[in-house]
Amino acid sequence: MDLFEYQARDLFEKHGVPVLAGAVATTADEAESAARSIGGKVVVKAQVKVGGRGKAGGVKVAEGSTQAREMASAILGMDIKGHIVKKVMIAQAAPIESEYYLAILLDRSNRTFLVMASVAGGMDIEQVAHETPEKLAKIPVNSNDGISPELARKIIKDAQFPSDVAEQVADTLALIWKLFVAEDATLVEINPLVKTSNGKIIALDGKVTLDDNADFRHADHEALIDHSATDPLEALAKEKSLNYVKLDGEVGIIGNGAGLVMSTLDVVAYAGEKFGGVRPANFLDIGGGASAQVMADGLSIILGDKDVKSVFVNVFGGITSCDAVANGIVQALEMLGDKATKPIVVRLDGNNVIEGRAILNQAAHPLIQQLDTMDGAAARAAELAAK
Ligand SMILES: Nc1ncnc2c1ncn2[C@@H]1O[C@H](COP(=O)(O)OP(=O)(O)OP(=O)(O)O)[C@@H](O)[C@H]1O
Ligand SMILES: [Mg+2]
Repeated sequence: MDLFEYQARDLFEKHGVPVLAGAVATTADEAESAARSIGGKVVVKAQVKVGGRGKAGGVKVAEGSTQAREMASAILGMDIKGHIVKKVMIAQAAPIESEYYLAILLDRSNRTFLVMASVAGGMDIEQVAHETPEKLAKIPVNSNDGISPELARKIIKDAQFPSDVAEQVADTLALIWKLFVAEDATLVEINPLVKTSNGKIIALDGKVTLDDNADFRHADHEALIDHSATDPLEALAKEKSLNYVKLDGEVGIIGNGAGLVMSTLDVVAYAGEKFGGVRPANFLDIGGGASAQVMADGLSIILGDKDVKSVFVNVFGGITSCDAVANGIVQALEMLGDKATKPIVVRLDGNNVIEGRAILNQAAHPLIQQLDTMDGAAARAAELAAK
């Protein structure tokens, strides 16, 4: 999960990383009163999970609360690279002397962690990285050793930070490593990390990505989720403990086992090419013990997707045999009643396939069509979706 800047700021504060006063606002009124309580010059900053906010006009300096109000009403509602601004952060303005860059990330390709540091930080860091890569130091960090205060000092020295700030920047690096580990982050980035006119080092902008696989260790991360951005069908699926991912096609997919579902997506996309580019509408793995209730939950989520024109149920009977799955489908359709309105192509194979197919034949549900092969069923589902 990517955090908003104001959430990153709060995490920084919690871990002792130096930040300035800041408050989040969703209306111009709130922005004005936040600016008033911070006092003096403030910066109004669009809170969207995308880079380049400053260049898009989403970061503005205000002399006081009245101007902060005006700027907040201009920034709220703005579209920044397809992200609509719903919140702004009001931050105390810093007297900036220099802008640096400091980040720790999970470097998957090298199976390690990586520190990136530069004295040429600020809004053009991407350009610096591209055109003058020698100005961006990259130092791998062994996960067993981490970043001790000594290593932090060495990294900052190698990255050629000026000696008057080296100590403070090294302290900041050691602190964000602690945050990185304690919060199970995969990215902690500060850009800019500034030196103020009185020689202080402060994190002015933060990007943090938390590892969702570690959510079970962090009950407090739940509060950081931006529910307004979650797809409603995915939210519903999560409530029912289903492994569902919304995609942008027209053929609803239900399968058992992640591998089978992945290959079903491929087969449907391939078959769909013959029907004007029909594509799978979702990933849904109902897992091993696919009960009637799980099948009903899965079907009802897929049938509730307005983009879905047909459904492909692709099940390979293993421990859960095909007759159990077939009974599940029949019962699920009974449970759904009138809510089931779209054609459902079923391909059963594996354990007890004969019994399973017989159960569906006997039920003779008007929406169900059975096919024996995965390719044949995918082609039929794609054809039905294209109609
Ligand atoms: N609190 C502040 N006080 C003074 N200047 C600020 C403050 N916050 C940001 N700025 C200035 O605005 C610039 C852009 O701000 P920031 O880094 O937050 O946005 P951005 O980098 O454009 O956004 P993103 O990181 O999403 O690409 C900074 O480089 C800095 O010069
Ligand atoms: Mg920035």
